[in-house]
Amino acid sequence: MAELQNDRFLRALLREPVDRTPVWMMRQAGRYLPEYRATRGQAGSFMDLCRNAELACEVTLQPLERYPLDAAILFSDILTIPDAMGLGLRFETGEGPVFDKPIRSMADAKKLYVPDMGSDLQYVMNAVSTIRKNLNGRVPLIGFSGSPWTLATYMVEGGSSKTFSKVKAMMYDQPATLHHILDVLADSVIQYLNAQIEAGAQAVQIFDTWGGVLTPRDYKEFSLQYMHKIVDGLKRENDGRKVPVILFTKGGGQWLEEMAATGCDALGLDWTTDIDVARARVGDKVALQGNMDPSMLYASPERIRQEVGYILEKFGKGSGHVFNLGHGIHPEVDPEHAGAFIKAVTELSGQYHA
Ligand code: CP3
Repeated sequence: MAELQNDRFLRALLREPVDRTPVWMMRQAGRYLPEYRATRGQAGSFMDLCRNAELACEVTLQPLERYPLDAAILFSDILTIPDAMGLGLRFETGEGPVFDKPIRSMADAKKLYVPDMGSDLQYVMNAVSTIRKNLNGRVPLIGFSGSPWTLATYMVEGGSSKTFSKVKAMMYDQPATLHHILDVLADSVIQYLNAQIEAGAQAVQIFDTWGGVLTPRDYKEFSLQYMHKIVDGLKRENDGRKVPVILFTKGGGQWLEEMAATGCDALGLDWTTDIDVARARVGDKVALQGNMDPSMLYASPERIRQEVGYILEKFGKGSGHVFNLGHGIHPEVDPEHAGAFIKAVTELSGQYHA
């Protein structure tokens, strides 16, 4: 495997010295890029794009051709696991993901099983190894998964939801059923992320997109507990190098201490927590990734640059910061504004590193 030429992302996650703050964007490969829309059109459907290693590699590399990013992220989706469990995943235009066979009872839950990584999810590992080969050591590759709670919301609701009515009713009335689903998911995520690491992922991120809709007590019981189990089960070193683990709970700002106690290496921060406050709370235990409001990219390049400077100043001097948006980039963003964001981080951050 080619020698890694730019490791500032991995070093910052481990709070080791860097020359400037590394930067990447959640959902950096996606619909805001015309070249993504062209490749997706060629693939047919979104899942066909995920299943085609060459095309998944092509869209993974597209943002790196445009911008001086410090990491690539596997092009795939968090819903590959429930899809492999046989729930019948479809992506409907305008509707988002839909499952034909949602999980609504203990009888449904008992039918769930850990998918076979070597058959049902082999296409993801093929994408990982194809991307690693084509990156040729340019930047590290991030693997990822959804958190058990976030995956369960889609599996029980049967798709996206605003109210989480079905999964929350299950949580309150049939907690044993939900715990059974979360257990199978946690075991699946451990195997899935370890397989991605073995196929070449150099860091992994767990997306807990919906952890923030829970009460503090329920967050610990139904989301954090299972992420803790996953962190304990992950392979933390590969090819003689540490494989950092990033936990991202959107809306999780009040639980940073508990999240850091899982033993992860870094926490993803959304824009509702000040990064200086977060650093004071957990900066001696974990690195921080974030946290510019993704809607800031609707503003002018000058305003974006000012905001980048403000966040860098708030974090302050020293390593342990990976610059990112506080959540995924929106599809309507002008690619030039994303470019202004990344350029500002590369130009303004050097002064914070000795
Ligand atoms: O970051 C990257 O560039 C890697 C790719 C990536 C995708 N999905 C591609 C995608 C990642 C990391 C994800 C994770 C994901 N998927 C999450 C958690 C991340 C987060 O933002 O919190 C969630 C909740 C999903 C589930 C999902 N996938 C939904 C709700 C949708 C439809 C929503 C929409 O924007 O239409 C998807 C589809 C999806 N996943 C797209 C992409 C680029 C859009 C598909 C398309 O129309 O081309």
